[in-house]
Amino acid sequence: MKIFIDTANLNEIRKAKSLGLVDGVTTNPTLIAKEGEETEALIRKISEEVKGPVNVEVTATTCEAIVEEARQMSAWGREIVIKIPINPEGLKAVKILSEEGIQTNVTLVFSASQAILAAKAGATYLCPFLGRLDDISFNGLELIQQIKRIYQHYDEIRTQIIVASVRHPIHVIEAGLIGAEIVTVPPAILEQMMKHPLTDRGIAQFLEDAKKIGIRK
Ligand code: E4P
Repeated sequence: MKIFIDTANLNEIRKAKSLGLVDGVTTNPTLIAKEGEETEALIRKISEEVKGPVNVEVTATTCEAIVEEARQMSAWGREIVIKIPINPEGLKAVKILSEEGIQTNVTLVFSASQAILAAKAGATYLCPFLGRLDDISFNGLELIQQIKRIYQHYDEIRTQIIVASVRHPIHVIEAGLIGAEIVTVPPAILEQMMKHPLTDRGIAQFLEDAKKIGIRK
């Protein structure tokens, strides 16, 4: 399973990168706005930090403007992926960009029918939002299972699922159980994934015992 980090904060990205476990970055306008820095400058800095895909979202709303914005953004780093919200204008743009070889990530996906259309348009990645569905009492995991099952029926579909809007480590486990290719996790969730109180207690006990027999001072 690939793990992307869901943040636009450079320090958080550097910290996650130092673990050697991060395969890419996802951002969105909300995450970028939190940083108080101009989008292009920030994405260029993030791209210098990260080897894998860096996802940046368009804010244009017509096909023509999305394509134009995406072409410019794609020059901001080695592996820029253009996030495009799913709607008719977005899908038209995804089709054009995928034919130009620009990688796309169709985002804000909340139904399997949207996922079918995104794959048909040639999306490189697809972001179903697990947590936001759970928040409104819909089973987000069921949606991802459906998409996974549908995509498996068709050899020609190359679109990779990025499980997004992750709220806790159980979401990551569930995504793994259904074989999602990628999960994008906020930095705090990555920390939580490492933690277990029994591990902390076990380490403390071992160090204490090691001291007793002089292995450790
Ligand atoms: C990922 O690409 C999405 O932008 C992100 O996971 C959304 O998460 P949220 O629902 O916590 O805002």
